[in-house]
Amino acid sequence: MDGLELSRALHVVAVVIWIGGVAFVTLTLLPVLGRSRASDDWFVRFTAIERRFAWIARAALLVAGGSGFYLIVAMDAWDRFTMIAYWWMHAMVVVWVLFALMLFVIEPLGLDRALRERARRDPARAHLLVSRAHWVLLIASLIAAFGAVAGSHGAFLG
Ligand code: HEM
Repeated sequence: MDGLELSRALHVVAVVIWIGGVAFVTLTLLPVLGRSRASDDWFVRFTAIERRFAWIARAALLVAGGSGFYLIVAMDAWDRFTMIAYWWMHAMVVVWVLFALMLFVIEPLGLDRALRERARRDPARAHLLVSRAHWVLLIASLIAAFGAVAGSHGAFLG
């Protein structure tokens, strides 16, 4: 197994853990917690569970970013960013940057506190907001993953 094969495998495993977790939170955890969104109890349980996953997601994000960067360097693939056929390369980077901002900047800066306040005032609306944000991130991630698998095997080249 050479460096390219190893980094590609690590990249995909990290993406599976991270985006799989986002899918679980969006499709299972939030809908179930939403059944008790009459009080902010849903938010207390949500943060307890998500806080633990956030550390796993941060680690997976770093592995996916590091291995992705290595792949670009090893394949000398920088010129792809100038071609529309490689839109999925841009999509991967955009999704990565969105999550990095959320997990390393916005959340530590007090997103939790702001949301807790909102959940106390209007728990149902806060649940809708958090669910919608997760849907947006999940759909963007799935588009990037779909494009990356298809594109790296020759799709979109015309
Ligand atoms: C900074 C962020 C990222 C960089 C630099 C990056 C870079 C790369 C590169 C260079 C490849 C190999 C393409 C090829 O073989 O032609 C790749 C493959 C792939 N990436 Fe990313 N990526 C990043 C983030 C992501 C994200 C966020 C996702 C998922 C949402 C993702 C999913 C994939 C998948 C599924 C493959 C295809 C593996 C295969 O089928 O061979 N990547 N990535």
